[in-house]
Formats: sequence, structure tokens, C-alpha cells
Amino acid sequence: MSQAKASAPAKIILFGEHFVVYGNPAILAAIDKRISVHARTLFHNDDKIVIRSDIGVAGEYKQNGDFFNLLEGGVEAKAVLDPLCGAVMQVLSTRNEKKVGIEVSILSNVPLGIGLGSSAASCVATVAAVDLLFEKNTSRQHVCEIAIESERQIHKRTSGADCYVSTFGGLIQYQGKSKSFEKIETKRSLPLVVASTGIKHKTSDLVIAVNRFKEENKTVFDSLAEQARDICSQAWAAIESGNGDRIGELMNENQILLQQIGISHERVHDIINICNKAGAIGAKITGAGGGGAIVALASSKLESIKIASQLKEAGYPSFEVEIDYKGLSA
Ligand code: PMV
Repeated sequence: MSQAKASAPAKIILFGEHFVVYGNPAILAAIDKRISVHARTLFHNDDKIVIRSDIGVAGEYKQNGDFFNLLEGGVEAKAVLDPLCGAVMQVLSTRNEKKVGIEVSILSNVPLGIGLGSSAASCVATVAAVDLLFEKNTSRQHVCEIAIESERQIHKRTSGADCYVSTFGGLIQYQGKSKSFEKIETKRSLPLVVASTGIKHKTSDLVIAVNRFKEENKTVFDSLAEQARDICSQAWAAIESGNGDRIGELMNENQILLQQIGISHERVHDIINICNKAGAIGAKITGAGGGGAIVALASSKLESIKIASQLKEAGYPSFEVEIDYKGLSA
């Protein structure tokens, strides 16, 4: 095949971020915002990898890795493009394809750098689209593992949770220790709202900051991690039984733990206050924090619309999200 397409969803973390890096479980959901990737072979440039994204970054690489030419974007562009080039190189290497150039074009409707898993979804969709050029029947597990390897270029300690939920979709409990997941069934829909603080973060910096906190406060961290584990297991039961009030309470408890490990922000607290006043049952950071995004649970779809509109009135970009059960589409 000389052209192929794939798309993968963004995600939210409902419970357990950061602690999952240290082997804890986390509960995540894929959401109805996607990254689409179009890949094609470049027959006349067999040593080139070109990556373009509609977020305004583009660059070209040589496959031996010793050449990079920025085609579009500023100083930040290379950090966005490198893992995607890494993803392409990993696929070429696993398929033993040495004499083929690749161009990848990425279309994103996922806000960048606020904890919605845009980089994981880009890696998953890129691996799947490029792999399809050579092999029709790749397993999702194979795509996911290569995507995690590429993600490691940006953030060495990645738990892999983002790539798993983006690949397999739905609502999952991810086990940081065994790097495996189980799907969670729920008896009710979860009316969720996502709001952005407008403050972008670098996941790797926040993971390093939490690691520092852990090293300096070992006993405290161990106790917080135990509470996080307990919240996750109660949350699983509450989600399965459709007990919205309990899910909301547990989200609030999880937020307190995130505050204690130092990754919250005053804008996060402002958003959470607005959500509470607008009737949310629970609200917390989703993802690495330090600003980033907040996820709130409403009691009904109508209530979620009300919460999102009050957040927008206060100047915070917000939207309701649905869970995406499809995952990777290739
Ligand atoms: O990159 P984000 O903001 O989606 O956060 C990733 C979640 C962390 O638990 C902080 C890191 C990880 O690898 O699981």
C-alpha cells in the first residue's frame, strides 16, 4: 500500500494519575476528540521522514537520524516532531524496511499540552497508519507497544496508560505494575465536562517534580499512594454500579491527593469552585496537572451543559465529552 490512514482518541484520567507511574492503578477513559494521521510512502526520497501537523509544526529527518530540517514552527516544534519521527523509525525497523521514505500528516482536534493525551494519540495513530503501509493485520497490542516506546522519547518514565486507552478505547483500569488493563462496564453514562486552565504543561517536568517530592517525603508519598490505590478500587465499584454521587466524591478526594503532591494550581482551584457552584458532583485535575485541564462530573447531560457554559462565561475554554468506545481506528 502506498497510502494509509488511522485515527486515535484523546483521553481523560478519572483517577490515579502520577501514582500510576509508581505501579498504582489508574482509571482512564478515551474521549470523543481524535487525532487523524495520513501516511504515504515517498518513492523518490527513500531516506527521508517528513512529519507535518496542522498545529503548525513540520520537519524533515534523514532515517539515520543525523539530519533535521525545520519546515514550519518555532523552537518548540522539534520536541513535538521527534517522538513522531521516532514512531515512524520504530515501525520501519520492526518491518525491516530500510529503503523507503515516509511522509506523515497529522490532523488534530485535541487541545495540546493540557493533559488530554494528544501526544499519545498522535503516536498511536502514526504507528498504526505507517504500519498499515506494510502490514494489513497488525494487532492493537503491537501498535500500542511501539507507540509507548516512541512516547518514552518525550517522557522517559511514562506509565503507558495514555497509549493503552487511546489504542483500546472505552473506560479502563490500567495497572501501572503489570502494564495491563481491564475494561470497566458502567450502568450509566458519565456526563463529563473538561475545562482548560489555559496553562500548558510538560508532562515530563511534572513527573520529575513528583519524583522529587517522593524522594524527599518517602513516608508521606507511600501513604498518599496507598490512599490513591484505595480510591481507585472504590471508584471502579462505583462506576460499575453507576453510583454517580460516589464517583464524584472520590474525584474530589483524588484531587486532594494531587494537591498534596504539589501539582495543582490556583486556576485549577478557581475552575473547581466554579464547577461546584454550578452543581458538579465532583471535579479534579486530569493528567499531569501544573495547570492543564480539569474534569468535572455532572448529574445529567443538561447539568453538564450548564457547567460548561458557566466555565466559558468565566473565561475558561470548556466542552462536554463523551466516552469513545472505538479506540484506534485503522
Ligand atoms: O501527559 P498527561 O498530562 O496526559 O499525564 C500523563 C499522566 C501521568 O500519570 C502524569 C504520567 C504517566 O505516564 O502516566
